[in-house]
Amino acid sequence: MVDLAGRNAIVTGAAVGLGNSYAHALARTGVNVAVCDLRDEIHDVASALQAHGVKAAAWQGDVADPVHVRTVVDGAREAFGGIDILINNAGVWGASVADDNLDKSLADYDLIVGTNMKGEYLFGRAVIPIMIEQGRGGEIVNIATDHMVTCGTPWHVCPGTDKCPWGDSPRPTGGGEIMDLYDVSKWGLNGFLYGWAKALTPHNIRVNAFCMGATDSHMLRSFHNFDPSPEEEASWMRAEDNAQALIDLLEEGATGRNAQNINFCVGRPVKLEPPLEHVYIKPEQVEIGGAS
Ligand SMILES: NC(=O)c1ccc[n+]([C@@H]2O[C@H](COP(=O)([O-])OP(=O)(O)OC[C@H]3O[C@@H](n4cnc5c(N)ncnc54)[C@H](O)[C@@H]3O)[C@@H](O)[C@H]2O)c1
Repeated sequence: MVDLAGRNAIVTGAAVGLGNSYAHALARTGVNVAVCDLRDEIHDVASALQAHGVKAAAWQGDVADPVHVRTVVDGAREAFGGIDILINNAGVWGASVADDNLDKSLADYDLIVGTNMKGEYLFGRAVIPIMIEQGRGGEIVNIATDHMVTCGTPWHVCPGTDKCPWGDSPRPTGGGEIMDLYDVSKWGLNGFLYGWAKALTPHNIRVNAFCMGATDSHMLRSFHNFDPSPEEEASWMRAEDNAQALIDLLEEGATGRNAQNINFCVGRPVKLEPPLEHVYIKPEQVEIGGAS
């Protein structure tokens, strides 16, 4: 197990929800944390993180704005002296359907793909050269969704089918018929997952993705118009548990799993399970020190 204390991280979209839990879990583990978000509340997050005894800094802005991304990344590097961990978390949800009119569709595209895919792309492009130049490895975790890795993709490699509430058939995508753009914005992250992991393996930089089902957050409560049934609400996973899984992943260190879409399914314990077999890339392409 790797000691994370003293490492330096960036967490995007950390004012509320999962990003806030990730930032606090990292700070509690001794990691210096830089955060950013569109929301005003982000200004209070830095002092809350400093209370864990680490350095912290915060910026308010849009992850789809390259000037903001440059400011955050350069600011974090200057404040901490380097960047070892990037958690690409900022994301938005919105309903979109195949027969939406063009004006709505363009606005939806810019918001949903602009945030979920462009934001991650820009932060990756800004941070990766720094990690390579530092020469001490690194960790990138992209926050995706279970819509794209239903039961492990392909379903037969999921290790938990015996305990799956969906029985012995593939779970239907959580996106249903009203999330084509959200699903696109998250499926597209596979390009970064596999492309970056392969390119960065020689630099000891791991790239993984978290693909969780319903987790209690501002986004989920917005989606349900703040009126979920008690049974449904009780089934949601806790952001704090997902954040602990993030720490467990990072503590694996460079020889841990790489290029994995890591599933967290409603109805199963929120914890890291053994890595899945690689089916879309050759395992040897993403082996750091002989492990993938
Ligand atoms: N909650 C779930 O059930 C769930 C499930 C699967 C995946 N996810 C993913 O987890 C991530 C976090 O989601 P959450 O549920 O915590 O959502 P949330 O809405 O509770 O928090 C998201 C945060 O990102 C910020 N943000 C949004 N757009 C931004 C932008 N353009 N620039 C900067 N900050 C921005 C928001 O202001 C907010 O603070 C997202 O990528 C989401 O798609 C969530």
